[in-house]
Amino acid sequence: MGMKKKLAGLMALSMMAFGVMAGCGGAQDSGAQAEGGTLRMGTNATFPPYESVDENNNVVGIDADIAQTVADKLGMKLEIINMEFDALIPALNAKQLDFAMAGMTASPERAEQVDFTTPYATGIQAIIVPEDSQIVAIEDLKDKKVGVQTGTTGDKYCSDDLGEEHVQRFESGVVATQALVNGQIDAVVIDNEPAKAYVEANEGLKILDTQYTVEDYAAAIAKDNTEMYDKINGALEELKADGTIDKIIAQYIHE
Ligand code: ARG
Repeated sequence: MGMKKKLAGLMALSMMAFGVMAGCGGAQDSGAQAEGGTLRMGTNATFPPYESVDENNNVVGIDADIAQTVADKLGMKLEIINMEFDALIPALNAKQLDFAMAGMTASPERAEQVDFTTPYATGIQAIIVPEDSQIVAIEDLKDKKVGVQTGTTGDKYCSDDLGEEHVQRFESGVVATQALVNGQIDAVVIDNEPAKAYVEANEGLKILDTQYTVEDYAAAIAKDNTEMYDKINGALEELKADGTIDKIIAQYIHE
C-alpha cells in the first residue's frame, strides 16, 4: 500500500512537471546543433521505468541512465528535453534534438523518417483492464473503447485492428489509465513495463496474460545526421557489448 501511494504521488508529480515544461515551450527554446559538447536528447517522461519525472523535476529512468552513460563515453554533457511523444520525430527532423530515447519502438514506418540505432531493449504491447473485466483476450477488444498514448505503436495497432472509432488517444499512458479507472474506456494498450507501473499505482486493474506484439526499442536520430548517428550508435554498441546496458536495465526491472 505504501508503495502504491508513493508511485501514485510520483506519477501525479510527473504529470504536473510535464504540464509545466510543455507550457514553457519545451524544445523550441534550445538551439539548432550540438554546441559546446552538449548532447540534446528528447524524451516523453510519462513512461516508467524508462523515463519519468522525479520529485526534483529531473527526468530519471533507464533511458536517462543509458543516455548519460553514452554522453560520458563521448565526453559530452547531456541535456534532456521532455516533450509530447508524437513531437519527438518532428523535433529530430527540425534539428531541435540530437537524438531521442523514449522506449521508442524501431518500427518500419518510423524508419522512413528517422534512423534507428542498434536496439537496446525489448517491449511487449500489453493490455490493461479492470480486475472484473470480461475482456480476457485480444479478440475481446473488438467493439470496445481502447485507450492509447497518441502516436505510439499501441495507437497504430489498435487503430488498424479495431478501427479509429474504437480508439481513444491520450497524451500519456498515465492519463489513459486514469480514464480506465474512471470507467471512460474498457482497456489500455501500452508497453508492458509502464503498464506494470500504472497498475501498481492504481487500485482495481490488471494486465492480461497476452502479448499483443514484441518490439525493439532503439534511439532515433535524424536521417541526414550521420556524424551523430555514428557517435550514438557506436557508444550504444560498446555499452551493449560490455554489459553496461543490461546492468542498467536490471537496476529497474527485476524479473
Ligand atoms: N514503444 C511504444 C512506441 O514506440 C511506446 C513508447 C512511448 N514512450 C514514451 N516515452 N512515452 O510507440
